[in-house]
Amino acid sequence: MIDRRTFLLNGAAAIIGASQARAQSDMDSMPMPGMDGMQSGHDGMDMTGAAPELPEGEELRELPRLVNQSSQAGSFEANLNAEPATARFVDGLETPVLSYNGRGPGLLIEATEGDKVSIVFGNRIPDEPSTIHWHGMPVPADQDGNPMDPVASGSDRQYAFELPEGSAGTYWYHPHPHGFTAQQVYRGLAGAFVVKPKNDPIPAAYGDTPLFFTDLRLAPDGRIPPNTMADLMNGRIGDNVLVNGQKNPMLNVSAGTRRRFRLFNATNARFLRLSFANSPMTIIGTDGGLLEEPVAGIQDVLLAPAERLDIVVDFQAPGTMALTTMPYDHGWMGGGKPSDESLTLMTIKVSGESKEAAPPLPTALRNIPDLGPAAVTRKFVFGEKMGMNASGMTMDFFINGVSFDMNRVDLQSKVGQVERWEIENPTDMDHPFHVHGTQFQLIDRTRNGTITPAPYKAWKDTVNVARGETVGILLRQDRPGLRMYHCHILEHEQLGMMGVVDVKA
Ligand code: C2O
Ligand code: CU
Ligand code: CU
Repeated sequence: MIDRRTFLLNGAAAIIGASQARAQSDMDSMPMPGMDGMQSGHDGMDMTGAAPELPEGEELRELPRLVNQSSQAGSFEANLNAEPATARFVDGLETPVLSYNGRGPGLLIEATEGDKVSIVFGNRIPDEPSTIHWHGMPVPADQDGNPMDPVASGSDRQYAFELPEGSAGTYWYHPHPHGFTAQQVYRGLAGAFVVKPKNDPIPAAYGDTPLFFTDLRLAPDGRIPPNTMADLMNGRIGDNVLVNGQKNPMLNVSAGTRRRFRLFNATNARFLRLSFANSPMTIIGTDGGLLEEPVAGIQDVLLAPAERLDIVVDFQAPGTMALTTMPYDHGWMGGGKPSDESLTLMTIKVSGESKEAAPPLPTALRNIPDLGPAAVTRKFVFGEKMGMNASGMTMDFFINGVSFDMNRVDLQSKVGQVERWEIENPTDMDHPFHVHGTQFQLIDRTRNGTITPAPYKAWKDTVNVARGETVGILLRQDRPGLRMYHCHILEHEQLGMMGVVDVKA
């Protein structure tokens, strides 16, 4: 019996035996990392020929919106179906994808603090369970789309929760079914969830533009190929970073304006170190909402998988500039490391004369309370293991020496208890650490005995833990139930780098 998290490489083709998870059936005869001229997939996918080129330079589209069906103030109601659809990323090529309500990546849900939300989810994905996980949002554990609460193919369930005061922030949602999360996300299932405050201190004149980053790989025939061994080890890096579903779209702005952007890293595994050419950014918020005060003069930001940022950019001089990626080394196992620097993600055309100055950004945005002293300190150590057995090479991912088991509770906690979690990464790759059900505060990072305190106070639900680093966070769960914590490289999550905390009332 082969453990479902163990991958076997056997000669040129990797074969999985006795796998219960259909996700793994994607791997039958998967291309080997570093092999030139990939072989045909198990379903006859032709992997020969050049990867299709996506068109660039189209005007940036707004994210499609999920329309609120409720006419009552303070309530948001809608249906959300996960279903197969056909996308046309390249003229003349049809790409089978998964979508919410048949819309492109990033379907935006926008609600307001205090709203009651009711979403009826329909799983229309043939033969696969799914869920909707409300990433980063303070929802009850049994409404959070945990792997323990699958929605079977063909069935519906309602997710209901209330957005408490103070929960305004930049969230997202995606499937979380055991063994299927990675593939459902890279096939297209992820959306933005913006919770607006009742009174927003950020001037409305800046606009509020979500930039939802996803990662697309297309086979020559237009289909999305399954994960390779290199993808499973390193996390899947696609060939094209899309912004709101488009490759290198064009945004037109007038000189002298200031724009607010919400950045979402909804890729499976891509680290995005971003820069807006010569225009410095001002960070105004993180995953869980606004900072206490703006942090100005930022030249580049690292957005690890699943992280979000709320920023303001000043566009002064007319001309053309670009949002690009800069080099960032997150570690890589084996060959075939994709080049992920100097990509142009979006082009911005700044036109016209500089008009009168944009309204100023307030110096105080909100108050973020301290969590106070920790009652408990817990340690989490990431692990990867490559080994050999009779059949070939094996690969496993751990937290504290064990792979995820849905039927095991890894630790017990208490509602309202402040805890310090220390996440240590002695492995070869960076792993972005995420906790469900709450927002935490990054306290410090330790490397070779040197402690660096967090640069500013912020609410986060995902934090990158770089190779050789230990990250200290403070958190408190305010609602009881089972909560997941895991690496948000979705292939690592799926291969066992996840645990369960049982929060007792
Ligand atoms: Cu986006 Cu379990 O998370
Ligand atoms: Cu989550
Ligand atoms: Cu990881």
